[in-house]
Amino acid sequence: MKTMTRQRPIGSGYGADSTAEDVLTGIDLTGRTALVTGGYSGLGLAATRALAGAGARVVVPARRPGPAAEALRGVPKTEVRPLDLADLGAVRAFCADLAATGRRFDLVVCGAGVMACPETRVGPGWEGHFAVNHLGHFALVNLLRPALAGGARVVSVASAGHFLSGIRWDDPHFRRDYDPWLAYAQSKTANALFAVHLDALGAADGVRAFAVHPGSILTPLQRHVPRASWEALGWITPDGRPAPGFKTPEQGAATAVWAATAPLLADRGGLYCQDCDVAAPATTDDMLVGGVKPWAVDPEAAARLWSLSADLTGTDAFS
Ligand SMILES: NC(=O)c1ccc[n+]([C@@H]2O[C@H](COP(=O)([O-])OP(=O)(O)OC[C@H]3O[C@@H](n4cnc5c(N)ncnc54)[C@H](OP(=O)(O)O)[C@@H]3O)[C@@H](O)[C@H]2O)c1
Repeated sequence: MKTMTRQRPIGSGYGADSTAEDVLTGIDLTGRTALVTGGYSGLGLAATRALAGAGARVVVPARRPGPAAEALRGVPKTEVRPLDLADLGAVRAFCADLAATGRRFDLVVCGAGVMACPETRVGPGWEGHFAVNHLGHFALVNLLRPALAGGARVVSVASAGHFLSGIRWDDPHFRRDYDPWLAYAQSKTANALFAVHLDALGAADGVRAFAVHPGSILTPLQRHVPRASWEALGWITPDGRPAPGFKTPEQGAATAVWAATAPLLADRGGLYCQDCDVAAPATTDDMLVGGVKPWAVDPEAAARLWSLSADLTGTDAFS
């Protein structure tokens, strides 16, 4: 598969230990505007801090604007705007309000997400992970299209969780056999495929897209997994510290910030990245080792998912 042959590290000089601040060394984002969904918690908060620290103005959509404003208190050049990605009407209103400001975006980080939730139905009965993690961002980026005029980088925060599932074409909304981990995995494959086809459609107009696996980081994302099982899952040591191989939020934000800003990625796109470089094809099923599985970068699956998502959301600004 041609896309798999493009999945080769390019020698970024950064790695698993690099932080978002590290990868912005020598990069001045003054005059640039970023949008970071989930930019007030976990990795997103670390990304927002780093981007603002490098001079960018950062718009942070938030389904809980109060806590978001609190988390971002003291972080310069940030602006919180209400948005629930589970509500397509809210996504439309958010984009219409932004359009009225005439603002355009140079960087978009689609970082908001939920993981391993109990079965949740959204809107017309959509599965919750697929709806929030994928369809909400799909609609958001399509509706933001006019604000990306002149070129922009879009980073879709995926996960090595994609190892567990491709897209369930016959049942994407888990009408049967709901499994919280498979639902998360499908949504993360969708995040990766979104970047592949967005890049294919947007590149001619300078809209480039990347997907990233941030690494493993303890954040509020794990809230639906009982704490009693974290040690057995290999997430924490017996004394409660993050297990070896886990990253800090600042390290976890680094790959998304690198993909959004690295000069080395100019004229590239549609790639899946990890540890601040383009990821190699996965050679193991060990998610901690990572790499990318073929179903997450398959251009035909990416086009098919785009078409399905456009039908479901009624948005398609790039085709
Ligand atoms: N942490 C990891 O180990 C890891 C590994 C691989 C991939 N990732 C990915 O990295 C991204 C960030 O994860 P994180 O660990 O930083 O998690 P986090 O701290 O829980 O942050 C997730 C953010 O998404 C927001 N969000 C959730 N549902 C939303 C909705 N319906 N509308 C708008 N915003 C919504 C949350 O808002 P509230 O705070 O209001 O809920 C929160 O701000 C996710 O896409 C996740 O899948 C994380």
